[in-house]
Amino acid sequence: MSATSSVSATEGIGPDNPAPLVEPPRARSARTPKSTRTNFELYGWIFMRLSGIVLVVLVLGHLLIQLVLDGGVSKVSFAFVAGRWASPFWMAWDLIMLWLAMLHGANGLRTIINDYAQRDGTRFWLKMLLYTATVFTVLLGTLVIFTFDPNIR
Ligand code: HEM
Repeated sequence: MSATSSVSATEGIGPDNPAPLVEPPRARSARTPKSTRTNFELYGWIFMRLSGIVLVVLVLGHLLIQLVLDGGVSKVSFAFVAGRWASPFWMAWDLIMLWLAMLHGANGLRTIINDYAQRDGTRFWLKMLLYTATVFTVLLGTLVIFTFDPNIR
């Protein structure tokens, strides 16, 4: 290994040495829709950053409680869940985590589908599948959190 192998790819970038061009995964074509005249993608971009910050706290806290503290995953049982969901604080924690993770993940996958699916039909149906799975999971999860019955037999 030479001493220069640790030099970063962006070192020395300037007017005489421009940064390498990163090609978009899918080129615009004559059929690519024009700008939609709304700021939807801007708000989506901001949402990904803000929800990411909140998710760091919610997901790491969730993993710590479920998998690390008090004997790890072996303590997780119906009674453990019932005990936690007796508190509105943990119900709200899990509800917000569910909604943010699903909307964040779905919006991320929407971006990936828009970038990589070449044919209009493929793009449309992949997104319909994604939206259906997202709505189903968010509604089912929300229903479970709000209708959970610790005395079920
Ligand atoms: C734990 C904290 C998390 C942070 C800080 C975070 C942060 C981010 C950010 C900033 C982006 C935007 C990247 C870009 O626009 O180039 C992103 C994209 C994405 N995130 Fe997260 N995220 C987190 C959790 C999650 C979770 C739980 C999921 C799945 C449910 C997820 C799925 C995705 C997907 C699919 C993308 C799109 C990737 C892409 O465009 O290439 N993320 N994330």
